[in-house]
Amino acid sequence: MERILTAQELKEYDGADPTKPVYIAVKGTVYDVSTSREFYGVGGPYEAFAGRECARALAIMKVDPSECNQNLTDCSEKQLKTLDDWIAKFNTKYPVVGKLRGKGAEVDMSPQELLGLRDTPFPTSVVVTLVVVLLLTCIGAYVLYIDMQEPQDPNVHTEL
Ligand code: HEM
Repeated sequence: MERILTAQELKEYDGADPTKPVYIAVKGTVYDVSTSREFYGVGGPYEAFAGRECARALAIMKVDPSECNQNLTDCSEKQLKTLDDWIAKFNTKYPVVGKLRGKGAEVDMSPQELLGLRDTPFPTSVVVTLVVVLLLTCIGAYVLYIDMQEPQDPNVHTEL
């Protein structure tokens, strides 16, 4: 049966542990690139790709971890063709381990999926907390506003 890996599981195969194989994911397909540890292992020229979904980085030809685990939304036809050429190469060279859970780096990847995948400085928990705090602040401000709109007590005027 085909193995399904999460982005976190894929990260464990980034070449840092010499006893583990090295994996890369391209458009959601996970390849075992252990035979090219000199490329993808620690200190190798393409170590940025190890343990990551690197479709975008391959499409735009940038060896940069911040271009990994990203979607392909703004890639040109030419860049997508470049990616197809890489995929053709990997398909003939490396065994397929399985698939990355979610939609990998497909064009329609949702922001939620991206948040789960991207090497973001803000973990999902921080983002969720911020959104909740913002919502509570808005509700508080609204309640205060409604309170201020309450009509004055008519008795105050009759007493004058
Ligand atoms: C000065 C620029 C570059 C030079 C001289 C260079 C050179 C090479 C060489 C000699 C190989 C080994 C080919 C083989 O034996 O099969 C290689 C592999 C590779 N290059 Fe580059 N490269 C350059 C830039 C890039 C860039 C910008 C990318 C970004 C996507 C890239 C991605 C790769 C990948 C992924 C492999 C490994 C393919 C495999 O697993 O077989 N290279 N490169």
